[in-house]
Amino acid sequence: MNLVFATNNSKKLIEAKEILPVQIEVISLGEIQFNEEIIENADTFPGNALIKAKTIFERFSKPCFADDSGLVVPSLGGLPGVKSARYASEIGAVDHEANNQKLLRALDRFQDRDAYFITVICLILPDGIPRYFEGRVEGSISIEPRGNKGFGYDPVFIPRNHKQTFAELGPEIKNQISHRALALKHMNDFLTTFI
Ligand code: IMP
Repeated sequence: MNLVFATNNSKKLIEAKEILPVQIEVISLGEIQFNEEIIENADTFPGNALIKAKTIFERFSKPCFADDSGLVVPSLGGLPGVKSARYASEIGAVDHEANNQKLLRALDRFQDRDAYFITVICLILPDGIPRYFEGRVEGSISIEPRGNKGFGYDPVFIPRNHKQTFAELGPEIKNQISHRALALKHMNDFLTTFI
């Protein structure tokens, strides 16, 4: 079975190919010649994942999936949430360092620094029904950024039962426990029984 992954992120594509079973060939947007920007303007993770998967399914009639991820901090009412990529931006640019600084400032006066990363995958098979798979990794926000591996909020996120941030732990550990890997594994479990 061929499955289009509606992402332009080559690292995500590699990760999906590693986790999904060999009977499933993961196809990139480049391979189907889709290079338009998809506007993700829903206010939930499943909503944004659906927009991306549906755009591809309706255009190409091919089975596909899309993911949407972010960092959720309950003390901040769920922020940065679906705004994770552009949390510190007025003009829509993505600046990871500014995002981390804004987050640390916002949490200045809070004792409760709990947070989790979440990924929601929306999968659409030939039956056209959207199916959702979620992965979460719980943890807390550090006092200052630490480490230089990874991207985004990795330097300020300490996964539960660890002392180091994701940016210090590096990909070997992160990819075992990450929100994205977990969501992919849930989809993999479903596909293994479905195909
Ligand atoms: P996306 O939906 O996977 O593109 O993620 C949206 C935004 O959430 C990213 O630009 C990051 O700010 C944040 N984010 C998602 N996953 C991670 C992660 O694994 N580490 C750090 N930040 C992440």
